[in-house]
Amino acid sequence: MKLRIAIIGCGKASEKHLRVYKALTELIEVVAVCDLNLGRAEVFAKELGAKAYTDFKEMLKKEPVDVVDLALPSGLHGEIGKIVLRGFKKHLLVEKPLALTLRDAEELINLSERYKLKLVTIFQNRANLPVQKLKEFLEKGLLGKPLLISTRFYWKRDQSYYDSADWRGTWALDGGALAQQGCHFVDMMVYLGGDVEEVYAKMGTYLSKIEAEDLLVGTLRFKNGALGTIEATTCARPKDIKAEFVVLGEKGSSILSGFSLDRLEYLALDDGVNLSLDLSEKNPENPYGFAIYQYLKSAILFFKEGALAPYLSVGEDALKSLKVILALYESAERNRPISFPFRPRYCKLGRKPLA
Ligand SMILES: NC(=O)c1ccc[n+]([C@@H]2O[C@H](COP(=O)([O-])OP(=O)(O)OC[C@H]3O[C@@H](n4cnc5c(N)ncnc54)[C@H](O)[C@@H]3O)[C@@H](O)[C@H]2O)c1
Repeated sequence: MKLRIAIIGCGKASEKHLRVYKALTELIEVVAVCDLNLGRAEVFAKELGAKAYTDFKEMLKKEPVDVVDLALPSGLHGEIGKIVLRGFKKHLLVEKPLALTLRDAEELINLSERYKLKLVTIFQNRANLPVQKLKEFLEKGLLGKPLLISTRFYWKRDQSYYDSADWRGTWALDGGALAQQGCHFVDMMVYLGGDVEEVYAKMGTYLSKIEAEDLLVGTLRFKNGALGTIEATTCARPKDIKAEFVVLGEKGSSILSGFSLDRLEYLALDDGVNLSLDLSEKNPENPYGFAIYQYLKSAILFFKEGALAPYLSVGEDALKSLKVILALYESAERNRPISFPFRPRYCKLGRKPLA
């Protein structure tokens, strides 16, 4: 039987999902779609042969659905996800980040466990072949003990991007370069580097008229002893420059690059192994398309058959990177290092303005 999916939020991210779903009709059926903007919902409905709604509760009352795909402004994932799990008992596929507050993320995880529902967060870059290869090398200890785990992305998001939807760049619903674009990179740090012990960050809003930051620089200390840095910015002008993820280990080093960390630019070990060319040749032209296809297909197989691809972010896994994001913001707000475990007090991410 086909997996029955309903989409809530028919925006930019969902357009990518739509393309994947159209290519996987032997596995799934998108039965209904919902957006506050009826026009957008109808465009999606037409493409997918689904029914269009503007009220997700009405949709879930009427339609037979197995999985709900949430691609809403990030600050709504928690609130609406909880209603989907608690009120309608549906499996949940959530765009990154899982939620903006620890409380929301923990409640989503607890509800999914309580009702034995599957919860998958979309971190598609993990499915990139070079990332999987580097993970395998790290797990086998081929690079030796990691000393430095560092990442940076210099991207351009100008005012027209932030003005394209009123939730973008707000603390309540989005956050800035770190929470929105950077959550992929923080996820990669904990996916490949493991738990973080302490962070220290500075941030500022330099080029865009938004509440949150458009530039954050942070240092990290990992439990395994490695040090790390992150530079997260949407201030690159006149265009996107690059993204990069570096691991220096005792016995070897590696650099992932490409805007979505889809290229293995460099991997060299003391014993002479050098993998850069092999993997780069296997990388597809369109990294977003490749990874999102692979990732969503794996999520569908997990929902359908319980087959768990190693890169899927399931349940509490997504909490790890959220904690690091919150700690970096907390540190920048307080101008002091933050050690784990911690609960955010000054960090504004996900905080609703007082009425
Ligand atoms: N995985 C990725 O690489 C990736 C890329 C882009 C965005 N995202 C994530 O996807 C999510 C959505 O981002 P986007 O760029 O598509 O935003 P968007 O603004 O383009 O789309 C959001 C849609 O949600 C709709 N919406 C808002 N409230 C609603 C409600 N209560 N009920 C129904 N519909 C509602 C809006 O009308 C809008 O069409 C964000 O969490 C973002 O972080 C992930």
